[in-house]
Amino acid sequence: MTAVPSVALNNGVTIPQVGFGVFKVPEEQTVDAVRSALDAGYRSIDTAALYQNERAVGAALAESGIPREELFVTTKVWNSAHGHDRALRAFDTSLAKLGLEYVDLYLIHWPVPAKERYVETWSALEKLLADGRARAIGVSNFQPAHLQRLLDASDVVPAVNQIELHPNLPQRELREFHARHGIVTEAWSPLARGGLLDDPTVTALAERLGRTPAQVILRWHLQLGNVVIPKSVTPRRIRENIALFDFELSEQDLAAIDALENGRRIGPHPDHFNR
Ligand SMILES: NC(=O)c1ccc[n+]([C@@H]2O[C@H](COP(=O)([O-])OP(=O)(O)OC[C@H]3O[C@@H](n4cnc5c(N)ncnc54)[C@H](OP(=O)(O)O)[C@@H]3O)[C@@H](O)[C@H]2O)c1
Repeated sequence: MTAVPSVALNNGVTIPQVGFGVFKVPEEQTVDAVRSALDAGYRSIDTAALYQNERAVGAALAESGIPREELFVTTKVWNSAHGHDRALRAFDTSLAKLGLEYVDLYLIHWPVPAKERYVETWSALEKLLADGRARAIGVSNFQPAHLQRLLDASDVVPAVNQIELHPNLPQRELREFHARHGIVTEAWSPLARGGLLDDPTVTALAERLGRTPAQVILRWHLQLGNVVIPKSVTPRRIRENIALFDFELSEQDLAAIDALENGRRIGPHPDHFNR
């Protein structure tokens, strides 16, 4: 079982650098997937109200018998629940489904700029933090301008910004912004949802290093300092995606992967995602 290093958040709480994502894992497969992940050594699980599998995530955590304080659970408030009171109610629903007394990280899933409510939603998250119902709070899919608005309006700096990030979209500007403000960068779709695993640069590196393409990409993330949350429902891949701590990429290897930048996104652009 792999032990995963942790990264310190800006309020002293620590997050495992590798977590397990469950987007698009159907509720009926989620208990098995999370069980495989916990068996492999993952202790951080990333879900969201949107994913409709919080109940199964909670069930898998409960049946594992792993002490609550060894787990790190993230969930997110969905776009339809922006606003102070609605966000608080959405949190209550998520917590009840998870069967937990607190989450480790609660995120605003998307800024939805057209609604102009994310500052208000943030005030709800601040309350959850103050009440100890979320050990840390953060955001997802925030662009620099959205982050700056929160920084101007609030004393609580987001602990994390969870963003689409992979070699095609390395998010340099956001990573620099995060570094300046002590915000941890968490990469979603760290494997570009599988789309980079047959890239010739990646497969050549993998062959030379005796690793898999997924491991090479995830190792690139770790050496950049990103937190990653790869998703898989396949036990072999789940184990592979956490076995990242006994090899290293050279500067030259990192540069070869950096060269895959082309701006291609998998998800929508946060400035224009207003559903
Ligand atoms: N905040 C947001 O807006 C947002 C958006 C998207 C995702 N996320 C989070 O980020 C997590 C990860 O992102 P993602 O699910 O979009 O994409 P991902 O982790 O980059 O890729 C997942 C895909 O890659 C395949 N895969 C995983 N490991 C592999 C391996 N070792 N070899 C070959 N194929 C492999 C999986 O297949 P199988 O499952 O079939 O094995 C799946 O099709 C999500 O689960 C979610 O928690 C957040």
